[in-house]
Amino acid sequence: METTVNMAGRHAGEEVTIKGWLYNLRESGKLLFPIFRDGTGLIQGVVPKNAVSPELFDRIKNLTQESSVIVRGKVRAEKRAVGGFELDVTDLQVVQKVPESDPYPISLKEHGVDFLMENRHLWVRSPRQVAILRIRAEIIKAARDFFDERGFTLTDPPILTPAACEGTSTLFEVDYFDDKAYLTQSGQLYIEATAMALGKVYSFGPTFRAEKSKTRRHLTEFWMVEPEVAYATLDDNMALAEQFITFIVKRVLERRPSELETIGRDISKLEKIDTPFPRITYTEAVKMLQQGFDEGKLEKRFEWGGDLGSPDETYISEKFDRPVMVHRYPAVVKAFYMEPDPNDPKTVLCVDVLAPEGYGEIIGGSQRMGNYEALLQKIREHNLPEDAFKWYLDLRKFGGVPHAGFGMGIERAVSWICGLEHVRETIPFARTLTRIYP
Ligand code: 4AD
Ligand code: MG
Repeated sequence: METTVNMAGRHAGEEVTIKGWLYNLRESGKLLFPIFRDGTGLIQGVVPKNAVSPELFDRIKNLTQESSVIVRGKVRAEKRAVGGFELDVTDLQVVQKVPESDPYPISLKEHGVDFLMENRHLWVRSPRQVAILRIRAEIIKAARDFFDERGFTLTDPPILTPAACEGTSTLFEVDYFDDKAYLTQSGQLYIEATAMALGKVYSFGPTFRAEKSKTRRHLTEFWMVEPEVAYATLDDNMALAEQFITFIVKRVLERRPSELETIGRDISKLEKIDTPFPRITYTEAVKMLQQGFDEGKLEKRFEWGGDLGSPDETYISEKFDRPVMVHRYPAVVKAFYMEPDPNDPKTVLCVDVLAPEGYGEIIGGSQRMGNYEALLQKIREHNLPEDAFKWYLDLRKFGGVPHAGFGMGIERAVSWICGLEHVRETIPFARTLTRIYP
């Protein structure tokens, strides 16, 4: 009977067929220990020389790493083995043998990150990368479930757009027949329109930013999930964000414990994630940073009015064991579409959610500017093309309402939940300033 490695345990005592690859081969005297992988897990085979034909023994003995094979064997419980079961091999068919003269480049020893990224198409096969990609898929599923179960409708915004959403300095330009177009930086402006049609909406799709920064948090192509809610305020938005993150973390803990174990994640840190998240204003965050400087923990004194950089976010987020919500930044450091705080119009009704353990911003969101004239003025101040925003202004003319939403970068969330050093491992094929291959 054909099965997969993760299901092999259900067939203890039976003969099964598994389709996969040779992960590793150990030899010990007259015994061979081939380890097979099939995408669902690893299982060790046992091949005693006197139990199989000389021809089969030689075929297995000559196998090379990552050769594709269809193996048959009897499943046997073995406490000491990976996965708790072993396979007494009875037959093995080689589908494609990796040539001895040109072996699989990624051995089980350590490799440098540049080498691994250059061979990303093969590196994705390693158990650690497989675990990360499964957790990524679980996070995406959880994000969709969260909104689907709460009356949100998925509405897909366009990827080719006529104008900027998040500042003109990171736009990727493309030829659009005789015109110019840009790859979208965020679906937000478009889901503001669909929110006026459907009430509660979200989008989930690829977004693009020509980021010139080489940090462990920036990709040029990343996936964002964005909810947008008609009649919502900043407070509603923050409540939604903390419920959303908590839901995702609990889902991963519940459904992906073995993957978290494979990557060595300290789950006690994730188990602490629960509502409510601490909320601090930007002004309070500045005080924390200034105190950090006075205590010699930060290199530069932070002045009110500047944007928080990565080291600043890291410093603040390390002070909390839950994500912290920093709200009401100065208008000058934020996008054009945010509603000013009526109590202090120098600031806007926005929120950045900073993940703990120094991970920094994973969510950015705000209440959107409601007034037609004020928005038009902002568009002009930011030197944005008025024509391209006519439709967006219409939303303030034809039944405008307070509304709010946020965006979470999937890769930043995966990076934090998996406890990774760099976002490049959170997506099958990372695109960065210096990498577009493979
Ligand atoms: O804070 P950002 O720029 O906000 C927006 O795009 C809003 N329009 C979202 C909204 O309100 N609907 O980006 C949102 C999130 C960030 O918090 C971060 O998680 C992620 O997108 N992000 C990136 N992730 C990887 N690489 C980059 N270069 C990223 N830039 C933003
Ligand atoms: Mg942001």
